[in-house]
Amino acid sequence: MLNFIENLAKEAGIMAQNQRKHLSSAGIHFKNERDIVTDVDRQVENFIKTKIAESFPDHAILAEESGVSKEHDSEFLWIIDPIDGTTSFVHDMPIYSVSIGLHRNGKPYAGVIYAPRLGELYSAELGKGATLNGTPIHVSTRDSLVNCLAETGFACLRAGLKENNLKHFCRIAPQLRGIRRDGSAALDMAFVAAGRVDFFWEMFLQPYDIAAGEIIVQEAGGRITDFQGGNDYPLGHGIVVSNGIIHDRVLEQLALD
Ligand code: IPD
Ligand code: CA
Ligand code: CA
Repeated sequence: MLNFIENLAKEAGIMAQNQRKHLSSAGIHFKNERDIVTDVDRQVENFIKTKIAESFPDHAILAEESGVSKEHDSEFLWIIDPIDGTTSFVHDMPIYSVSIGLHRNGKPYAGVIYAPRLGELYSAELGKGATLNGTPIHVSTRDSLVNCLAETGFACLRAGLKENNLKHFCRIAPQLRGIRRDGSAALDMAFVAAGRVDFFWEMFLQPYDIAAGEIIVQEAGGRITDFQGGNDYPLGHGIVVSNGIIHDRVLEQLALD
């Protein structure tokens, strides 16, 4: 199964990269003033869904651009973000990914994140560890904020929400070694799993942003909670993804008003 997902993510990523050359303004559409989707997002999503349906016709699928495509109950649910980081993709920035997650009986079972411009394939299956391009990965061991590199995002700003991440950013960033906003929540999570980044937090992400990253981080020894340390992520109270060691310090910072 993991082999199937890895090959599918790679094919989809190469398709996205190739189709980028033909992207024109006519192929860029607006979900709202700043939230864009391209014809390539839709094409890649259709490709992924078709391949899954060919091999697993009884499985259910939830995809970012077309929603839930199988109403009946199924043991397996595929959760797809065809291009995570569409803004970067449109601006020809290299950090974007194809993210394919698979749930079994409602729980994370497998996940693959492929970044074609980086040539990086992150992959995990329940109980079998996580890998980057086939090499096992594990979260970092840094235990103090001053030694940490963090990632965050600002979906809240794009959505024009009052309750936004700027207050958290301004409080936390000055305490860190460094902070990045790379534009792909899936890759932000993958970078934590690989031990490159020590923690990531964001508000207002969607299930398809995190489905693959969740199992990859868990299998790499990381911890994932909502902002209050619970499991109501990502739709409830934000999401915090970390090496586990620094997690409670991050929760303390996010709890400050
Ligand atoms: C976006 C990216 C971004 C995050 C946004 C997401 P999309 O995904 O993951 O990093 O901050 O909230 O919507 O829209 O490019 O698939
Ligand atoms: Ca996304
Ligand atoms: Ca997307």
